Amino acid sequence: MLEVCDLSYAYGDHVAVDGMSFTLRRGEALGLLGPNGAGKTTTFSCLAGLRRPRSGELRLEGRTFLPFACDTDRAVLGLVPQEVSLYADLTARENLAFFGRIQGVAPEELDDRIAAALTLAGLEDRADHRIATFSGGMKRRLNLAVATLHQPPILLLDEPTVGVDPHSRHHLFAALERLRDGGASLLYSTHAMEDAQRLCDRIVVLDHGRVLAVGTHEELAAGVGEPGADLETVFLHLTGRSLRDS
Ligand SMILES: Nc1ncnc2c1ncn2[C@@H]1O[C@H](COP(=O)(O)OP(=O)(O)O)[C@@H](O)[C@H]1O
Ligand SMILES: [Mg+2]
Repeated sequence: MLEVCDLSYAYGDHVAVDGMSFTLRRGEALGLLGPNGAGKTTTFSCLAGLRRPRSGELRLEGRTFLPFACDTDRAVLGLVPQEVSLYADLTARENLAFFGRIQGVAPEELDDRIAAALTLAGLEDRADHRIATFSGGMKRRLNLAVATLHQPPILLLDEPTVGVDPHSRHHLFAALERLRDGGASLLYSTHAMEDAQRLCDRIVVLDHGRVLAVGTHEELAAGVGEPGADLETVFLHLTGRSLRDS
């Protein structure tokens, strides 16, 4: 569905994404697994149209995809940013209404979309509370819900479970499974192998801005000659160091 072909991005002389290629298939949850600094957020910024790639090509269903230049291309994606991006002084409902308008949701549909987003986040009973009163996990849940208001077929989730309590973690995974069951394709970055193992159909293993391997967990383990190994062991084989070192 979404093809990333030889994508590169540099901050000045510092190459953060170095010729990355992978494909997100329709309806799958694809994990980007790599330590801090591997280039996950930079890749998402290029996909979401926040940064213009230095080189490479993005393709959506076989045609050139230009989220940086084209609003309709950008609307195909919903980005759940790594940092919670909400207005602390507004309520959950007010945040959703604001972001929904920015995303171009039709006024007559906005109330229904907000209600669906609150249900997805499991925050119906907190709809009219200010974000400043929310726990970290509740903010993360709303951060996800905001990205779904315009019903994008592809969701980019940048480490959405970092610092989340077990209760909210359960909610987040249930919401992601619901979105995937509803037909959305998920690109999910994490440096936690437990998360990748739990949610992802296939995994792209990254380090230093490069793709080291792509496959199901079983394929990755077989690929390093250790069938049955966990992702930590796979990463160690591919890089000579541990994911947990980061
Ligand atoms: N705004 C920035 N300016 C300069 N360097 C950056 C910036 N953002 C990220 N980097 C660098 O780019 C590399 C990739 O970072 P990032 O994409 O944030 O990785 P990840 O999300 O996997 O932790 C790192 O070396 C990081 O220090
Ligand atoms: Mg990041």
